[in-house]
Amino acid sequence: MKITMIGSGYVGLVTGACFAEWGHQVTCVDKDVHKITRLQQGEIPIYEPGLDVLVATNAERRRLKFTTDLPSAVADADAVFIAVGTPARHNDGDADLTFVYSAAKEVAVAIRGYTVIVTKSTVPVGTGDTVERIVARERPDAEFAVVSNPEFLREGSAIDDFLKPDRVVLGTDDDRAASVMQLIYQVLEETPSRIVVTKRRTAELIKYAANAFLATKITFINEMADLCEAVGADVQDLAVGVGLDHRIGMPFFNAGPGYGGSCFPKDTTALLRTAQDYGVPLRLVEETVGANNARKRRMALKVIEAAGGSIDGLTVAVLGLTFKPDTDDMREAPSIPLIEALQRSGATIRAHDPQGMRHAMSLLSEVAFCGDVYSCCEGADVVVLMTEWETYRHLDFGRLRKAVRVPTLVDLRNIYNRDVAERHGFSLTGIGRAHSTPSMTENPDLEDGRGARRLPLARGAVV
Ligand code: UDX
Repeated sequence: MKITMIGSGYVGLVTGACFAEWGHQVTCVDKDVHKITRLQQGEIPIYEPGLDVLVATNAERRRLKFTTDLPSAVADADAVFIAVGTPARHNDGDADLTFVYSAAKEVAVAIRGYTVIVTKSTVPVGTGDTVERIVARERPDAEFAVVSNPEFLREGSAIDDFLKPDRVVLGTDDDRAASVMQLIYQVLEETPSRIVVTKRRTAELIKYAANAFLATKITFINEMADLCEAVGADVQDLAVGVGLDHRIGMPFFNAGPGYGGSCFPKDTTALLRTAQDYGVPLRLVEETVGANNARKRRMALKVIEAAGGSIDGLTVAVLGLTFKPDTDDMREAPSIPLIEALQRSGATIRAHDPQGMRHAMSLLSEVAFCGDVYSCCEGADVVVLMTEWETYRHLDFGRLRKAVRVPTLVDLRNIYNRDVAERHGFSLTGIGRAHSTPSMTENPDLEDGRGARRLPLARGAVV
């Protein structure tokens, strides 16, 4: 199939490269001449593991091209994907659809013969209807259909997510368009991936509902972590004991400092706006958004508490700045409110991140950005593990102990083993992991045997 991708940003580039990998002829278009020139020379403007190789091999096979010339890229395409940005508007935070609509107009003028126009960008419910109206107005003679095909890519594992998806959602009432889309995704027929064909508005809503559900799941385990700390339970064990119920599931059930990134915060807020517009209150999602924001702000208190009640004049080493590992993305990263709050409380911040420091530098002031973990921890009174990059899982605790001034470690992702940390002299504060179980007699209600009995198994062991 001949596919044209309008917008060569994160989603457009990953999607285009993956379609080419499946054997389609793909042309990626962008208005940014500099970006297209770099891509033509094999330079990838974003950090995503594996994308450089995928782009290089498919460009070499002549299945993946880059251009700024939208009309000729669209003219012969079977399907044109709109994957342009939808930034939040400055005045009200709503998704700004200007780029989507102007792309739709340009595409309308250029299409020849029956063309499927696909919205790939995450767009509010009803956007497909507007795109359809725009195209019909520009080109009353055009033969086309507008399909919603939301992406479910996670930064850091986007290629795998694309090539081996749990599901592909296609929103259209047009049978011909559904057949074209099914041909595009045909390679998945032999795999466990499911293709779900729905009405267009349902497809648009599926994207928001999925992200709101995942954000709620994370917020739920985060609240359980708070309760675990209060009652002397362990959230890691709790997540295993609860998540093994297949109706609930283990993935995406890790307690942490609160979710960030470009999608969950933006999409949950956008979903609330849609619900508001239609007069349907989504109280659970509202609570999720509020609880997550409050949690991010509260993480600084945890660090201050671990430091003994005051951070004034102390040095904090922050390991990990991006909102999650394997990305250089700093959008809505919990590290930002944490660092700012600690600075307001009088702390000096040193920081390290394998990929995020360039972006972090433009967002944070008066932070000493360090080239490696151990120099970052030099003279620190508290070390805070913020993002679970693989490299931080293999720290040399002996070397770390020599670098720090005070061996206090706050692990906001629960990646460290208490015994190992304590053996090297560190005091460790995790998330939802109380140091000791409160005495049963502290709460007489628990004496009737309702307190959980600990079996003689390893922590979080599954037998
Ligand atoms: C997300 C969705 O997963 C993806 O399907 C959608 O298309 C875009 O939004 P992404 O933002 O790349 O992807 O990151 P994701 O891996 O989902 O993590 C989001 C946030 O949740 C991160 O801050 C992460 O640290 C946090 N998280 C995730 C947890 O705190 N606990 C978990 O168990 C999982």
